[in-house]
Amino acid sequence: ASTVRRTPEGTVTVGGMSVAALAEEFGTPAYVLDEDDFRARCRAWRDAFGPDADVFYAGKAFLCRAVVRWLTEEGLNLDVCSGGELATALAAGMPPERIALHGNNKSTEEIERAVEAGVGRIVLDSFQEIVRVAHIADRLGKRQPVQIRVTVGVEAHTHEFIATAHEDQKFGLALAEGQAAEAVRRVLKLDSLELIGIHSHIGSQIFDMAGFEVSARRVVGLLTEIRDEHGVELPEIDLGGGLGIAYTPEDDPREPHEIAKALGDIVTRECESAGLAVPRLSVEPGRAIVGPTAFTLYEVGTVKELEGLRTYVSVDGGMSDNIRTALYDAEYTVSLVSRASSATPMLSRVVGKHCESGDIVVRDAFLPADLAPGDLLAVPATGAYCRSMASNYNHALRPPVVAVRDGEARVIVRRETEEDLLRLDVG
Ligand code: LLP
Repeated sequence: ASTVRRTPEGTVTVGGMSVAALAEEFGTPAYVLDEDDFRARCRAWRDAFGPDADVFYAGKAFLCRAVVRWLTEEGLNLDVCSGGELATALAAGMPPERIALHGNNKSTEEIERAVEAGVGRIVLDSFQEIVRVAHIADRLGKRQPVQIRVTVGVEAHTHEFIATAHEDQKFGLALAEGQAAEAVRRVLKLDSLELIGIHSHIGSQIFDMAGFEVSARRVVGLLTEIRDEHGVELPEIDLGGGLGIAYTPEDDPREPHEIAKALGDIVTRECESAGLAVPRLSVEPGRAIVGPTAFTLYEVGTVKELEGLRTYVSVDGGMSDNIRTALYDAEYTVSLVSRASSATPMLSRVVGKHCESGDIVVRDAFLPADLAPGDLLAVPATGAYCRSMASNYNHALRPPVVAVRDGEARVIVRRETEEDLLRLDVG
């Protein structure tokens, strides 16, 4: 439900506003976020999963107070993974019981703040953390609802998944090693913890349902073991985030209703065959909600044609506002949005203004041969993991996020200023 349109004159509008007007008013580079699209995606997830499930938006993809308000209004919950994200959620009025706290190394302060605020769940990630959270809850006189994050031995890559017996990574407690079962034993012994469920997150930018299905089956398998060993049926399971989005025309993402049906069916079937009551399901999409809703607007500064190779188009941002190309070899598309051009398409590389050659925004793109300084380029699908992973490399000032809706634009995160940088530099 994107509101991005190309006019017959070749310019582009979003939410009824021309990108040239947005660039004029807010400057470039800027992230332009389509609020209607964001809200529509929230509703699509809610509707797909229905009243017997919860959708936790993964704040790490992009979080600010406006986003928290939209989530609250659209009936979503929120997954935070740091004190900073928790502070943003609470400052914008997200009811604490709708917040989940994640992280493989939460600090004592972060845990204290979450327990004190009364977050709906803390997702436990290690044996030490079980004791830490229990101790803090005990001291604060609370009984904290928790889930245990397990690694189910499914390693999800973008287009395929590989089942592995041992997962060699830092998150969660391994099912295969018996660590998950041991964690359950320990949590069940602690009065200040209320074990409400099991959590599994298998990876990100995934298109194939198979990995999610294996994960769902193994989590239900653990619920069955817990029932058999302890005589308790845990009421919830969370199957994490990870649904991929289209960055390029070759990407063919699944829709929320497809993942909802696949997960719902498998959990129901596995529970029925084990004689378990079907637990309440939750998921944690980040990228699939916010990713497609924003694009980055850049102004072209220089154009260098390398004979027989390609054209290097330098824009006024780069790896400081989108590290994903440099970090993950991520692919993006780009287009000229401030005018029409019928010039020959040239093999181009869109690069930033940072002092290294890996500072690439779009590795390969065809852009018109008459591209010139002052032209505006848009790189779509930068709503997730771009502003949230932005840096001040080369003392770049992080771009604003401008939300557009119904012909109105509003800054929801302002552009950083040199004063902001100097404020932290105490001399
Ligand atoms: N839940 C947990 C526990 C997670 O660790 C993550 C992402 C999510 C949910 C949301 O996943 P999503 O639906 O957004 O795929 N910086 C990388 C992505 C890292 C994802 C980390 N965890 C990127 O730019 O591709």
